[in-house]
Amino acid sequence: MGITPPPLDTTAPDIHGEPDGMLHGGAEEVHTAYTLADSKPPLDEEVLKVENLTVEFPTDDGLVKAVRGVDYTLRAREVLGIVGESGSGKSVSSMAIMGLLPKNARIRGRILFRGKDILAMRAKEQRALRGEKIAMIFQDPMTSLNPVHTVGDQLAEAVLAHHLVPRRQALAKARHMLDLVGIPQAERRLRAYPHEFSGGMRQRVMIAMAIINDPDVIIADEPTTALDVTVQAQILEKLLEVKDEVNAAILMITHDLGVIAGMAHRTLVMYAGKPVEVGSTDDVFYTPRMPYTAGLLGSVPSLEGEGEERLRPIVGTPPSLIRLPAGCPFSPRCPLATAECRESEPALEAAGDSHWAACHHSDRLAAADDPTAFFRADGEPAAAGEAEPADGVPARQTVTTTEGTTESEEGQ
Ligand SMILES: Nc1ncnc2c1ncn2[C@@H]1O[C@H](COP(=O)(O)OP(=O)(O)O)[C@@H](O)[C@H]1O
Ligand code: SF4
Ligand SMILES: [Mg+2]
Repeated sequence: MGITPPPLDTTAPDIHGEPDGMLHGGAEEVHTAYTLADSKPPLDEEVLKVENLTVEFPTDDGLVKAVRGVDYTLRAREVLGIVGESGSGKSVSSMAIMGLLPKNARIRGRILFRGKDILAMRAKEQRALRGEKIAMIFQDPMTSLNPVHTVGDQLAEAVLAHHLVPRRQALAKARHMLDLVGIPQAERRLRAYPHEFSGGMRQRVMIAMAIINDPDVIIADEPTTALDVTVQAQILEKLLEVKDEVNAAILMITHDLGVIAGMAHRTLVMYAGKPVEVGSTDDVFYTPRMPYTAGLLGSVPSLEGEGEERLRPIVGTPPSLIRLPAGCPFSPRCPLATAECRESEPALEAAGDSHWAACHHSDRLAAADDPTAFFRADGEPAAAGEAEPADGVPARQTVTTTEGTTESEEGQ
């Protein structure tokens, strides 16, 4: 399939592209690999349950249906990966959990934290949950860290916002957290400002901030997208390690399947605001049952030494979330699309034990030796002959407008 987990066992220090004088991980840190296999297994205890979540934004161009019915359960200590292209609704669905959506957002469904619906809670109750029981790590730490306050002050503030403890105690906790996330000379570093840290070290500070109040759930939204591959691997590894320190579950949101591979127990693939495949990460990676997943897998660089193999990007762009195409939203880009696909949107159906896919033709993927081969190397969808065009309609239609749906990667 041409994909292996990212190199979580790397021992290279965090030294990439940062000017001198900044804090790096460097040789001071004794680096030991920490993989999903080392981490504590999930418990049979639901911490977060999202039920039929929909989010719509009224805009001048029409109603943006950003999230169109998302369901999942996150168990204690579990890592659930949510993956999909930019604009598929990953961030909006997690912002809904955190209560961070703009006021005009129309949110429906239920978001149960330990059985209690966050959406039905009063604002004060929601605030108490946020940052304590549910913490969030964003892609760009500089948007969450205040440049004019020391890292120690900001970490201590995070404690004091939820606990009535002396400031000295909060600072001691902050110091312990910096130790835990692998920041050397923690005592001294408490007095440093965010700009004095390298990108990787700043993201470690964000992890420290996220875990400082012992959360049950950590939502990490593209936490390593801005970092180079080596530092990314170190940060993901650290995240796994600290998850076990505080017994938290992680919702790992990314557009990069490579991030999920070595990191998540289960994977949920989103397309046009809906889950289109859910299962154990192994099932989703090795036996995908929805063509979009297969397309994503085919466009991930191989780390198995098959360097000559060409990447097979999925042609086209995601559909407009204001004017979705009829039927399956992936049909304009899908090499397997048939008339049925253009008429009715498939629901998630069982594709195995604890494995679901939303596709009218998932049996065709099941029968294929290499499901990614449906996406040809030249960037065109596979020949119509493979797509049972019983209706005489070409396998590929013109891609619909992306109006109102595009978003730069940096904007995430
Ligand atoms: N405040 C908003 N108003 C209108 N549309 C929005 C707003 N926020 C997000 N969207 C749209 O919702 C869709 C999903 O966005 P998002 O969840 O950020 O995608 P992802 O995180 O998967 O890249 C996108 O089409 C985006 O443009
Ligand atoms: S085969 Fe049909 S239902 Fe399945 S993903 Fe392609 S267009 Fe959608
Ligand atoms: Mg996003």
